[in-house]
Amino acid sequence: MSWGSLIRLAGQDFFYPCNRIYQSMHQFQRTLVTTALPYANGPVHLGHLAGVYLPADIYVRYKRLKGEDVVHIGGSDEHGVPITITAEKEGISPQDVVDRYHNLNYDAFSKCGISFDYYGRTTSELHHKTAQEFFIEIEKKGIFTKKTEKLFFDRKADRFLSDRYVTGTCPICNNPEANGDQCEQCGTHLSPLELINPKSKLSDETPELRDTMHWYFPLGRFQAQLEEYVNSHEGDWRQNVVNYSRTWLKQGLNDRAITRDLSWGIKVPLNTVEAVGKVLYVWFDAVLGYISFTKEWAEKLGKGERWKDYWQDPQCRLVHFIGKDNVVFHTLMFPAILMAWNEGRTDDLYNLADNVPASEFMNFEGRKFSKSRNYAVYLGEFLEKFPADTLRYTIAMNYPENKDTDFSWQDYQNRTNGELADTLGNFIKRSVDFTNTRFDGEVPYECTSEDWNSLGINWQETLNQLDFAFEQFHFREAVSLGMDIARAANRFLTESEPWKAIKSDREAAAKSMAISLNFCHALSIVLYPVIPETSNRIHAMLGFEDTIEDHFNLGTSLTESLLLPVLKKGHRLKEKSEILFTKLEDADIAPELKKIEGLLAEAEKREAGIVQDRMEFKPVINFDDFLKVDLRVAKVIAAESVKKAGKLLKLQLQVGSVTKQVLAGIARYYTPEEMIGKNVVLVANLADRTIRDEVSEGMILAVEGADGKLFVIEPEGNEINGRQIQ
Ligand code: MF3
Ligand code: ZN
Repeated sequence: MSWGSLIRLAGQDFFYPCNRIYQSMHQFQRTLVTTALPYANGPVHLGHLAGVYLPADIYVRYKRLKGEDVVHIGGSDEHGVPITITAEKEGISPQDVVDRYHNLNYDAFSKCGISFDYYGRTTSELHHKTAQEFFIEIEKKGIFTKKTEKLFFDRKADRFLSDRYVTGTCPICNNPEANGDQCEQCGTHLSPLELINPKSKLSDETPELRDTMHWYFPLGRFQAQLEEYVNSHEGDWRQNVVNYSRTWLKQGLNDRAITRDLSWGIKVPLNTVEAVGKVLYVWFDAVLGYISFTKEWAEKLGKGERWKDYWQDPQCRLVHFIGKDNVVFHTLMFPAILMAWNEGRTDDLYNLADNVPASEFMNFEGRKFSKSRNYAVYLGEFLEKFPADTLRYTIAMNYPENKDTDFSWQDYQNRTNGELADTLGNFIKRSVDFTNTRFDGEVPYECTSEDWNSLGINWQETLNQLDFAFEQFHFREAVSLGMDIARAANRFLTESEPWKAIKSDREAAAKSMAISLNFCHALSIVLYPVIPETSNRIHAMLGFEDTIEDHFNLGTSLTESLLLPVLKKGHRLKEKSEILFTKLEDADIAPELKKIEGLLAEAEKREAGIVQDRMEFKPVINFDDFLKVDLRVAKVIAAESVKKAGKLLKLQLQVGSVTKQVLAGIARYYTPEEMIGKNVVLVANLADRTIRDEVSEGMILAVEGADGKLFVIEPEGNEINGRQIQ
């Protein structure tokens, strides 16, 4: 029997009742999904999977089920300074580094069932050509500006030092090991010029300042267009995505340097002296990778021009899956680059993203994943021990859609044993086994559309809800709904007791089994986006000799087909059933728990170490020295974030009759609103300092807690404003 034809029949008889879906299908004929290109500088971990690759894969697989034309493009980000730093550390070439991690990550994704249509690399020839084309187009139009700036140069190593190659003391918190781009301790974004006592990481020498010329992309030129673009997506983009973008827009967009003095990267494609030794900034090149890789995909298909259907046809919907740390690159920078390309053209115009579902973060056992601290579970290593589908399911259930979530081994074990093995697995196995032993392995009854509603849930409504959830990127909800169906089906089978009924009323038992088997089939479809391998095993147990993917057919929706039962009377099952999920014993996860204990202990030791370091007190001062410090109680009367310095808050403090402005590196821990009204301790006689064109007339006291979180010291008392602290 051909399942495909039945589906098509059902598809004709029943229109899909949810308008929203028809709307989006009419607006767009195609979808291009991209996933953030991970740096080929380390293995991907479960946090990456949860935020970007799994949700994208679920979405893409769902679209394929619906018979839609969808292409998923990903790949490795192979340029950038962290890669050259790794290479130098290990004494190998940057190419060796990216070869290693490109392959490692691609293998891990494949094992996990992330179904890319193409997984490229930014070191490819075609990508270099594409990025250079963009540079030339924008240069030709005179859009770039050029600026000469002073940059640190290491005479010993004979090269310019990009931000990351310079270290020194943080001007905000005095951390002696701040990086040239950011201080890890207080989180402030820095420029190397702001560091006190700068040192080259290459030679440990004090670098000298030299002039260097760079190309800048004038983001501000596109301010109005970008505002309009972001505003037009208010309501359909996630709130955090709109908010991050607006924060930048509100501050006014500035020129961004898009070239660097490096040898690893894409050469500035000009034959001028100025261009010698310059490469494109990694973010300028990486986002264009999405385009290059779509071109490579089309070439591989032997349809070289096909990529244009996905980038230049307004009928195609472009969706970028990313983590929250990449938002503005995808909602402002990349669109601006495309706007610059499109400017003044009538052909070969690029589409802008229709949606940018950026995730929050998934933590691991209550703490942030940290590559540098090795506090992570790497995807490849995980899959050497445990199956992909149980991981995919657990992570989907913890999808960090609009708040940070957590992955824990306990949760993984509970979901595997309870939801997957006891509910889903058990239901499928009981249905197939009972039919095999008591009904000769054949669907024993022809279900009617009325029977199809025996589960006690509104089936049509359920399918609508599922569709809405998948289409709106509410993946936790989509998967939960799938599991709800499994629970309802399992309950139905248990309550209809066919093993008893068969003795007195064979027809009743036959009917229960036919309904159950049809739900086995329905579950294999609705859960396919999340657990594709298991779905195919169910498909096989139900007697199909092909795969679910073999049924994909543009224009034919497998989910729509589920409005009616698909398995007809007489349909033969496979003779043998299998156990779909092996339960996880405590002993299976014990080594993993032990490992985390080790990692946590290490982290604690490190933190204790920090505290111990602090116990080496600073040199003794005398009492008069101390009295020089004028500490006062002040009240925060206004607070706002600071342009270009995401970690700083600008505070207006009332100290008696005086107001003072103070810049504090606390934006990561306090919102401006939270600060207003607080009493704080102010160092009131500190010399003024200018940070990012803003004057700071003092500092406020704070203490660093676990994980580097800062707590502002808040004095208490009556009428204490302006009083001296002694
Ligand atoms: N490599 C970057 C990161 O891991 C992401 C690049 S996304 C792209 O943060 F758009 F540039 F490709
Ligand atoms: Zn700092």
